[in-house]
Amino acid sequence: MLLTEIDHVAIAVRDLEAAIDYYHRAFGATVDHREVVESDGVEEALLKVADSYVQLLTPTRDDSPVAKAIEKRGEGLHHIGYRVADCAEALASMIAAGATPIDKAPRPGSRGTTVAFIHPKGSFGTLIELVQE
Ligand code: CO
Repeated sequence: MLLTEIDHVAIAVRDLEAAIDYYHRAFGATVDHREVVESDGVEEALLKVADSYVQLLTPTRDDSPVAKAIEKRGEGLHHIGYRVADCAEALASMIAAGATPIDKAPRPGSRGTTVAFIHPKGSFGTLIELVQE
């Protein structure tokens, strides 16, 4: 079994401050980590839930993939981050199982993680991120 935890559930939002405020009022949730990932054109706020996170994600520029997702489908569930011990191993295993990789090799993610994205096509409609801490 290569999955060790659900790392995060990512939700694309237009207004990050409003979403943080909503999760705070609704659940008492506070921001554990906040980061702009320039290469992906996103700003994220991580709300810790046990050993996992709710990741609120907003675009920082119009041509970022998250901006396009919101434009196409509106706000909402964007991807699931699966925590793995070895991103390269999990990526190879997914490709062997028929997955279509977006990242051909593991790359740096936020929080100093190593990540790789898998296309929803071929993965039952879910954008998957493999996350190695
Ligand atoms: Co993510």
